[in-house]
Amino acid sequence: MHLITKPNWAISENKVIDEVTFLNRRNILASGLGLAMSGTFGNSLFASNSITSHITDASKNFKFTEMERKITDENISSKYNNFYEFGSTKYIAKEAEALETEGWTIKVDGLVEKPFKISVDKLITTMALEERIYRHRCVEAWSMVVPWTGFELSNLLKISKPLSSAKFIKFYTFYDPKVATEQKARWYPWPYTEGLTIEEASNPLSFLVVGAYGKILHKPFGAPIRLHLPWKYGFKSIKSIVRIEFTENRPISFWEELNPNEYGFWANVNPKVNHPRWSQERERVLGGAGETIPTKIFNGYGAEVAHLYKKLESSEGLRLYR
Ligand code: MTE
Repeated sequence: MHLITKPNWAISENKVIDEVTFLNRRNILASGLGLAMSGTFGNSLFASNSITSHITDASKNFKFTEMERKITDENISSKYNNFYEFGSTKYIAKEAEALETEGWTIKVDGLVEKPFKISVDKLITTMALEERIYRHRCVEAWSMVVPWTGFELSNLLKISKPLSSAKFIKFYTFYDPKVATEQKARWYPWPYTEGLTIEEASNPLSFLVVGAYGKILHKPFGAPIRLHLPWKYGFKSIKSIVRIEFTENRPISFWEELNPNEYGFWANVNPKVNHPRWSQERERVLGGAGETIPTKIFNGYGAEVAHLYKKLESSEGLRLYR
């Protein structure tokens, strides 16, 4: 596995408490509270308060503040979403409320020492959460700026213990056509999937998101847990993740399967490489009354990620940017 040395701007090393310590701590806290509140209701209320406070108390990572652009109004960004499971328009916020996120777990399997399941609650309470303000550039040429709360994907990689044969990671969204009615549409290759190389996933920018605007993640944003990869087109940032599989071969994602000429594996933002049907030179600012701004290579995150692609330039060429 490719290991990255933490730069000095990074906030404290994330700590992963082992399972026994975690469960004991939770039991102790829950039984103490039982004096005042008995029964399941008390415990679940306590648990959800504790989850919320982990998110609201997350420290800000000042490396990722936004100097040039305004944060997109929450009321706009959380109501203009691509979440095809709930419909192919941007206005799926109401439909996405059907998503039941309580007790959500993620399965980690494939080329790992030992497959396991972990709950999102456990990730929220054991990973050191931080808030990062990231720019998001959709392949459709609109963009937004959002304060996400989460933790580095590399920290999940560490506890996943991938085998040396693992070269890629494939992410899966849930599949439940009763809840997400667009999943009844057979022309889509459900469930939504995405992929990264291990090196990309280990990059400090790769962020697993559990909150936004200082709150538990809004359902239309892909609750309870999604990726955010700010240097790539938005479709790589998969929502509502249920499975993370380590593989030897490069996975084919949802959009690549549908249309490989338009949506590739790499999808790094580049204003000089047009989408086959439109220019990528500029982007429309969400909530900006039609304002457009020039798009930057790697969405402005080149200092952090350009090195990942140097060796690939000769073999992958323009595919790195599609
Ligand atoms: N993840 C899932 N499961 N389903 C989707 O339809 N859309 C992608 C990405 N992740 C999508 C997804 C696309 S195209 C974009 S631009 C971003 O989510 C949109 O994220 P946002 O709704 O938070 O703006």
